[in-house]
Amino acid sequence: MIKIAIFASGSGSNFQSIVEATRRGSLHAEVGLLVCDKRNALVIERAEREGIPVLVFDPKEYETKSAYEEVILKTLNECNVEFIVLAGYMRLLGSVLLNAFQGRIVNIHPSLLPAFPGKDAIGQAFQAGVKVTGVTVHYVDEGMDTGPIIAQSAVRVLNDDDRDRLQARIQETEHTLYPTVLQDLFESLKITNY
Ligand code: GRF
Repeated sequence: MIKIAIFASGSGSNFQSIVEATRRGSLHAEVGLLVCDKRNALVIERAEREGIPVLVFDPKEYETKSAYEEVILKTLNECNVEFIVLAGYMRLLGSVLLNAFQGRIVNIHPSLLPAFPGKDAIGQAFQAGVKVTGVTVHYVDEGMDTGPIIAQSAVRVLNDDDRDRLQARIQETEHTLYPTVLQDLFESLKITNY
């Protein structure tokens, strides 16, 4: 079974949906590590409740991105992590992790990329008045939400939506899309490795 690390900075609802999919057996993977850059993030409590090891670090304690990514990489290797799943990790990855995990890092973003990259994609879509937005799962490169797209799911913006209602439906979509796409990806990785 493939061993994955989830990187997250916030509430961790996607972390939770991935862990639950592994427990149900619909996602054949083991979540071996949570990597988090915020000491008080709710996702840490979720990981502790699930008995999943946590690496928490404060980027301000390091002089460069490479310095803290080396620390992360060491832990990933010690835990035999084979694949990185970003789920609300609020930082760009640097060359240390990108080079070590080439083609094995994915992210989820709450818009139909390339529309509305960056922060507050849901607010951006709402402000723009689009009638359809959605969710994208994509490979990660050095840019902000720019890597090759793997899968997308559309979410309609309803006439009486406010930002919170739209966010709730987008998150619901994320929680089904991400585990499904990961399962498909891991299946195809298995095939390519044989
Ligand atoms: C999600 O909307 C995800 O698309 C974005 O950050 C948010 C994380 O939410 N990258 P959560 O922490 O998983 O609840």
